[in-house]
Amino acid sequence: MTPTRRPAEHPVLAPVPDRTHRIHLRSAGVSVVLDVTDGRAPAIPHWGADLGELSANDLDAVCESAVEAAVNNAVDVPVRLGILPAQADGWLGRPGLTGSRPDGSGWAPRLHTEAITLDGQPLTATHVQSGPGRVVIKLADEPQSLAVELTLELLDSGLLRVRGTVTNTGETPYALDELTVALPVPARASELLDFAGRWARERTPQRSTFGVGTHLRENRRGRTGADSAHVLHAGTPGVGFSHGEVWGVHLGFSGNHRHLAEQVNTGTKILAGGEMLTAGEVVLDPDASYTSPWLYATYGAGLDQAAHRFHRFLRSREHHVSTRRPVTLNVWEAVYFDHDLARLRDLADRAAELGVERYVLDDGWFGSRRDDHSGLGDWVVSAEVWPDGLSPLIDHVTDLGMEFGLWFEPEMVNEDSEVARAHPEWILGPDSEQLPVESRHQQVLNLTIPGAYEHVKNQILALLDEYDIGYIKWDQNRDLLEAATRATGRAATHEQTLAAYRLMDELKAAHPGLEIEACASGGARVDLGVLEHTDRVWVSDCIDPLERQLMNRWTSQLLPLELMGSHIASGRSHTTGRLHTLSFRGLTALFGHLGIEWDLAQASEAELTELRAWIALYKQQRELLFTGDLVRVDRGEDVQWMYGVLSPARDEGLFVLAAVDRQGTSQHARLTFPGLDPAARYRLRPLIIGERPHGLNAPAWWQRAEEQDGIVLPGGVLTTSGLAAPLLDPEQGVLLSLTREHGDTSSPR
Ligand code: DGJ
Repeated sequence: MTPTRRPAEHPVLAPVPDRTHRIHLRSAGVSVVLDVTDGRAPAIPHWGADLGELSANDLDAVCESAVEAAVNNAVDVPVRLGILPAQADGWLGRPGLTGSRPDGSGWAPRLHTEAITLDGQPLTATHVQSGPGRVVIKLADEPQSLAVELTLELLDSGLLRVRGTVTNTGETPYALDELTVALPVPARASELLDFAGRWARERTPQRSTFGVGTHLRENRRGRTGADSAHVLHAGTPGVGFSHGEVWGVHLGFSGNHRHLAEQVNTGTKILAGGEMLTAGEVVLDPDASYTSPWLYATYGAGLDQAAHRFHRFLRSREHHVSTRRPVTLNVWEAVYFDHDLARLRDLADRAAELGVERYVLDDGWFGSRRDDHSGLGDWVVSAEVWPDGLSPLIDHVTDLGMEFGLWFEPEMVNEDSEVARAHPEWILGPDSEQLPVESRHQQVLNLTIPGAYEHVKNQILALLDEYDIGYIKWDQNRDLLEAATRATGRAATHEQTLAAYRLMDELKAAHPGLEIEACASGGARVDLGVLEHTDRVWVSDCIDPLERQLMNRWTSQLLPLELMGSHIASGRSHTTGRLHTLSFRGLTALFGHLGIEWDLAQASEAELTELRAWIALYKQQRELLFTGDLVRVDRGEDVQWMYGVLSPARDEGLFVLAAVDRQGTSQHARLTFPGLDPAARYRLRPLIIGERPHGLNAPAWWQRAEEQDGIVLPGGVLTTSGLAAPLLDPEQGVLLSLTREHGDTSSPR
């Protein structure tokens, strides 16, 4: 069939019939159809569930049947939604690319496609079909002297990512306002799910109706933010972990940014995201370019599948961490600023004895930093607290067989510090006279100034050269306000963010194997941008397990468990004052990269014995935890949460049942285990570590399982009809392990 062209529908650009390229990318149950009709800018008629094998004619039909009717009292042609939406296509929602020339022109580019490559090969044919792939589209607007390169990749995981580079091909500067990439979502995605939060309560979910207008999540903090949108989803009504359909976007960037969901009055809906630039921040001189961060986009039949695509992508990276994530002891909540060698060595002894593998010395070891008022930015070991340097502690830690890690906050200074006194011009601020309002008594070091960058880099490198340090906890404890280079007044957040990334890379290049933890007042820098340069995030300063049940549950919408720092703290939480059993703290922390943050000298023998058992269990289970698929169970109730991991072959599983509240009825929804092989038989064992959970009132099957080393049931029964739930007091939990029965010949899924 000869492809039928659409009528000459574009208001101005003449059709270029030999420039029609339609591409179908497919991967892991996701299809993306890209339509470049008549040389126009690319649009995406379909992003979502797999469309199956499509012939060239089918692909034409998909593209052509997505063209909407022109509506009354609007442009006379069907509006076309591009990846960079533009008024030239009749789009009246948020534009994708905006900026201007000194004379005010150039604010509404009209881009057309010049060339396309698929996996590096130029596309000459009209239609192409493929599996996963990388499409690069070169676009230009000659009259306005702009060139754009869009890169779109459908990865093996089914995760889609898109970014753009804009180049000024003209002779006058081009002040870029925004490069925001947009993806279409269907009308049935009528509900939004994204995240809010604050210090010590990061990633709190919020659902709302996807109505007409814009749900705009702008971030001017100069860091990802405790309140970041995290993943902005649009889903079918009531979308759950394993039911409904959901589309989500996440911007891989740690500076100012925006995520948005927009529905224009025709009903067309988009999810979009991009860096948020301040006026004058990116002005492109002739031939200069700007590249946007990746916008990652996931589709899932339920939220678990959407999360798995992020997890699989992250796990597929060459530099992804190993599954043997070392049990970590961080001294912060144990000693705070009280750095006493004898006490810290004693803590190391106790940690090593429990099976800890990495010991991290937190804030307070440098300069005049005896509290958070001074010394920040002076990365020289304090002779006052450490008269013999750090060796007496580091040697002790490494002799005990543990790796040593050290805290830094490389982007920050106290005004009361040597560096700030010597170089006030190195601080970010509105002008050379004034400074921004302090936050945690600190200011931001301007890493875009080469001298400042070299200074901090050299101070850190000197320590990495001198001492055996395998791990940096990289903190960042304030938002960036009035973040300009003081001498010029020009906004600096964009360059500052890239400089922080570069510094991380340079330190790692100089010390291969060095790991970096991304921390920012807890979990205010959790994004896929920083994770290109770091190896885990600190989820939150709140280690209260009840709070962590919520925060971990939703942090894992983006990150696999091995990237989430997850500690067992003292019984009474330092941030909420709540008291929890070690059992609840242990099973909560187990589903992450396990650590301890507790003054072990205060722990009783019984607590240490139980802690040892939690550490041993973590070591035994970490391979499963860090290779398995996360399963969060839809239980139709909100007081007993159930989640776990299943091995890829569905041979093993480990689940938690956690009571996060009480309810008005006495019984709870049955326990089901989605994702098991229905044809296999599994041995299900309750796993009790330490003290039996308070209020555990077990049904008959549970009692039998405890007497007989578990019970054996078909996967299909466990998945569908399920088992009566035990009763638990609030803030208590139990673990359940599943093992495929030996000799079971049914095929793994
Ligand atoms: C904030 C971090 O989140 C804490 O874990 C701790 O490192 C403090 N900063 C130290 O100042």
